[in-house]
Amino acid sequence: MKVFKIIRLDNVDSTNNYLKELAKNGCNENTVVIAKSQSNGKGTKGRSFVSDEGGVYMSILISPKKSDFDATLVTSMTAVAVCKTIEQISKRNVDIKWVNDLYIDNKKVCGILCESVVIGSSIPFVIVGIGINLVRPKNFFPKEIADIATYIFEKEDPCVREKFETRLLENFSEYYKNIESKTFLPFYRQKNMVLGKEVTVISGTETQNAKALEIDDSCRLLVEFSDKTKKYISSAEVQIKLS
Ligand code: BTN
Repeated sequence: MKVFKIIRLDNVDSTNNYLKELAKNGCNENTVVIAKSQSNGKGTKGRSFVSDEGGVYMSILISPKKSDFDATLVTSMTAVAVCKTIEQISKRNVDIKWVNDLYIDNKKVCGILCESVVIGSSIPFVIVGIGINLVRPKNFFPKEIADIATYIFEKEDPCVREKFETRLLENFSEYYKNIESKTFLPFYRQKNMVLGKEVTVISGTETQNAKALEIDDSCRLLVEFSDKTKKYISSAEVQIKLS
């Protein structure tokens, strides 16, 4: 496993933002920031991410070797690493919702946000941000997400938390080492809860019904619209809702 330099914080606005500043100031690849809570957690597509105590809020700095590096692959690979970790430590079944969400019993338990940081003219660093609802929040979840979010464990246990974080970094490191050979892809496909399902494809203000058919080697989703036309979609352009 890689040697990670871990910075632990009680609270921060966003571990991704904190690590971005460190990267701009020259910190090394494999620096990891873990916070117990975030006051301004960021989600995908400019949304916020509820980050009360009880979660694991983690950001990992990686420095991809190739300039055409694909953040979608890192996101999908990370989803597999988190999925394996939850299943290994809790024995609960986890599903992946293309492209970056993890679900237990049809409720979201984890989200992933990868961001690039360009420093000078060099190949960008990528910050891999992972937010997991590890234990039941003290005051449960806020109203807006109470019906759609879930957690892994009922009660806090520092040993389990530490074991979880360590295993997550081990799994991440193993899959990342082989990212170019895409060893994570069969599991990513097998665990994906959208395949074969009716979905709503949301692109800006436009919504279309479709069926999710397959995930290609670049982790794009092939969908078939009601008029039988097919299209590969990438996560940057659209949002998927299970119908
Ligand atoms: C999503 O579900 O939309 C993605 C959520 C990603 C949340 C994580 S928590 C750690 C890192 N810091 C952030 O501000 N966001 C990511």
